[in-house]
Amino acid sequence: MNKPFGNDDPGLAAYVARTYAPEDDGLREIRERSQRAGLPDIQLAALDARHLEVLARACAARRAVEIGTLGGYSGVSLLRGMGSTGVLDTIEIDPSHAEIARESFFRAGFAERARIHVGRAAEVLRRLARHAPFDLCFIDADKEGYPDYLAWSADHLRKGGLAVLDNAFLFGRLHEEPKGELSAAIAAMQKTHEMLAHSGYFCATVLPTGEGLAVGVKL
Ligand code: SAH
Ligand code: DHB
Ligand code: MG
Repeated sequence: MNKPFGNDDPGLAAYVARTYAPEDDGLREIRERSQRAGLPDIQLAALDARHLEVLARACAARRAVEIGTLGGYSGVSLLRGMGSTGVLDTIEIDPSHAEIARESFFRAGFAERARIHVGRAAEVLRRLARHAPFDLCFIDADKEGYPDYLAWSADHLRKGGLAVLDNAFLFGRLHEEPKGELSAAIAAMQKTHEMLAHSGYFCATVLPTGEGLAVGVKL
């Protein structure tokens, strides 16, 4: 049988949510405190955060880079999957987001193992390059930057390391001809998928979560 991509039955989603309970009190506190502080409500969905934790554990990640920290919701999930010696370098352009994240990492017991870099990702990545290779790169910042961030990941991941990308469906617009307000983002995301699928750097797929979570294993 040729099954469709994804499954939008809300009963199934509810079953998985209550069985796996992906958002514990710690993550809920981060989400709610971020919201009270006026941050945009765009952190990972709870189950995608769990995916991240599982993926970090699956590749035995000890060194990870995150592009787009926001309030630390996904960063705490990554660190949970990284074992007691894991270190996360996470990049955030907005200092007010970084401050919220600092508190999140502290409360989660990760103050020593989360390095927050405040600045433009393109600049910070240039500085982080000398600490390569990394085990995992999680890309979740400006969508126009994704092709460069993925190219950086291809160059700085170890073999078997993971590139993980949020918003791989680009808010449902991925397959459209690039035009209008999201034109640059659509074109960038399409270029990103071309690189994941055809560059030879990765064995890759897209997990059909709400936003689409692309995963590439570095070859
Ligand atoms: N990964 C977070 C959500 C990130 S939202 C989570 O799931 O918890 C995207 C973040 O990327 C925002 O905080 C935004 O300020 C930041 N950002 C956007 N453009 C950026 C850039 N060029 N460099 C670094 N950070 C950027
Ligand atoms: C939005 C969602 C995201 O996951 C993100 O990284 C950026 C923006 C949004 O819904 O606008
Ligand atoms: Mg996102």
